[in-house]
Amino acid sequence: MATIILNHPLIDHKLTIMRNKETGTKEFRQNLDEIAMLMAYEVTKSLPLQNIEIETPICSMTGKKLVRPIVLVPILRAGLGLVDGFKTIIPTAKVGHIGMSRNEETLQPEEYYAKFPSCLKEADVIVLDPMLATGGSACAAITNIKKRGAKNIKFACLVAAPEGIQVIETEHPDVDLIVGALDEKLNDKGYIVPGLGDAGDRLFGTD
Ligand code: PRP
Ligand code: URA
Repeated sequence: MATIILNHPLIDHKLTIMRNKETGTKEFRQNLDEIAMLMAYEVTKSLPLQNIEIETPICSMTGKKLVRPIVLVPILRAGLGLVDGFKTIIPTAKVGHIGMSRNEETLQPEEYYAKFPSCLKEADVIVLDPMLATGGSACAAITNIKKRGAKNIKFACLVAAPEGIQVIETEHPDVDLIVGALDEKLNDKGYIVPGLGDAGDRLFGTD
């Protein structure tokens, strides 16, 4: 449907802190959490609304309410770093989880966990992962979610390579893609350049 590159000054500022290899776990997490709140505002901009009649203390009026429930689906592990920020802005959101691990040699995604709320089919689903590199993990996660009946899907990522964007646009043209920053390319190990390294490892302090 649409690919939106946010290029937001606050996101760019915070992302630069995250990109810096001297930035430790605490600051990395904190900045990702803050960016998630900014992204939540942007990602939800196009959600459909319906009219609702209410009484204010002054008079009757036609207000607005969201048409559908919202389900967040972080791709484990690194997607977890975006959940709290999104939940701060959308506290009623339900959360599904999908575990994807990218095989370091083949770069193919391997699914190891999936659990979703029962309202997935009728929900606005926002899939979360800070990194879109080859696009394999995001593509497989979206395919899984569609198989379970989800129809209204957005994919939100912080850093994307052009290769990953191309894959999602081709394989899932019905999915809105919201990207914090578009980077240059992938290196020969499938890492985003300049990127921020391995998001999961930096978020959880593993290596
Ligand atoms: C990272 C990242 C994405 C994926 C992107 O996860 O969080 O899910 O790689 O790469 P791709 O677009 O080429 O598939 P990883 O598999 O390293 O797992 P982790 O989050 O547990 O570290
Ligand atoms: N996964 C990451 O965490 N970083 C990359 O640059 C590519 C895939």
